Amino acid sequence: MKGVIFNAVEEAVVNLYSEDVWDDLLDAAGVSGQYTSLGNYDDSELIALVLAAVEMTGIDANELIKVLGRHSFPHLAGRYPELVEGSAGTHDFLRRVNDIIHPEVLKLHPDATPPEFLFEDRDDNTLRLTYKSARKLGILAQGLIYGAADRFGEEIDIEVVSGLGEEVTVFDIRVAALVPGS
Ligand code: HEM
Repeated sequence: MKGVIFNAVEEAVVNLYSEDVWDDLLDAAGVSGQYTSLGNYDDSELIALVLAAVEMTGIDANELIKVLGRHSFPHLAGRYPELVEGSAGTHDFLRRVNDIIHPEVLKLHPDATPPEFLFEDRDDNTLRLTYKSARKLGILAQGLIYGAADRFGEEIDIEVVSGLGEEVTVFDIRVAALVPGS
């Protein structure tokens, strides 16, 4: 997994907790923590960090990955500000992640394996997103989708239609309402 994902998770932990908590997590997970955005690191390091965080906080692993995904979004989005700003909202942006951002990641780093999404409009407010990846990180995707909605000031509801924790996960993402004041 690319270092940028570790950098984003680090930023999430520091914002939610503190630098000290991140250092404690690195120690507990037995990993170096020297993640450069372009480097490639074993997925097992990410898993070790999550398990250490579960141990430390007592929060359920799935819930924690979702929260970390949500708060990792700003770091990732900061790398493509023009695409974020040019998007009409969460649904539109998710299509750009699949059609532009992840393919670009792949072009720059042929060793990366970002997930693939399929889309289907269910109704005016609901987009069905099918996540596909051998990494089985649909729960991280769910957190990132919440993070995207936060960025666009949209209140969304995500229904897991099938397959959470599997290679193919289907989500129905319904945009409920604009968050007042945004
Ligand atoms: C501007 C925003 C984004 C950037 C720059 C970005 C970039 C990346 C990069 C570099 C990876 C690592 C791939 C690898 O090392 O093999 C990755 C993985 C991933 N991305 Fe994105 N991404 C963005 C937004 C999103 C969003 C909104 C979602 C959610 C729908 C998402 C879902 C994922 C997931 C779940 C992975 C983990 C790998 C996997 O499941 O196979 N990303 N992304």
